[in-house]
Amino acid sequence: MTRIEGRTYRDEILILRDEIEGEHKEPEGTDFAEWGENFFRPGFDIHRLVIAIGAEDIVVGSLTWHEVWYGPTTGSRAWNIGIGLAPIARGRGIGSTAQRMLAQHLFDTTDVDRVEASTDVANEPEQRALERAGFTREGVIRQAQQRADGQHDLYGYSILRSDFE
Ligand SMILES: CC(C)(COP(=O)(O)OP(=O)(O)OC[C@H]1O[C@@H](n2cnc3c(N)ncnc32)[C@H](O)[C@@H]1OP(=O)(O)O)[C@@H](O)C(=O)NCCC(=O)NCCS
Repeated sequence: MTRIEGRTYRDEILILRDEIEGEHKEPEGTDFAEWGENFFRPGFDIHRLVIAIGAEDIVVGSLTWHEVWYGPTTGSRAWNIGIGLAPIARGRGIGSTAQRMLAQHLFDTTDVDRVEASTDVANEPEQRALERAGFTREGVIRQAQQRADGQHDLYGYSILRSDFE
């Protein structure tokens, strides 16, 4: 059972926790996530926590992460994270705080030294949120992501265990 509590820079209570069965819906109006008929490819192993706010524990979005490998050695593993927030929850410091909390949690509970995220080159809110969360932009990942309307360029970001030390 995972439950992590923190506070945004606006001092809102922020909780990352397991989803209670039947409770979660994908936030409405999520841009850059129109996956089309290929959502999700078979065998895609993805982890998820919901993002809830306040003493009332209201779910406003979710975080996901999956494994990526850069070579055959055990030290070549990283986590790639993703996020979606309901429109009402955006622009309040929730996205940046939640992504930093998840990176910290993954460094605390697994042996990876790298957590990465990628976002569309047009997704300025997520670029800003990742930068505020302490991620470093590494460059353009060309035509990497297929969505319903075709292939898209992404910016790649990462945060390292050593960035927290
Ligand atoms: C992208 C997203 C997760 C960002 O989370 P958020 O809670 O809105 O972001 P924050 O409030 O933490 O803001 C972080 C920074 O982004 C900026 N920002 C937030 N919304 C913005 C917007 N619409 N336009 C420009 N900048 C924006 C904030 O001003 C802040 O900048 P600062 O550090 O210079 O003050 C959220 O907006 C969202 O869920 N969007 C839709 C789904 C999505 O795009 N997910 C990512 C797919 S890769």
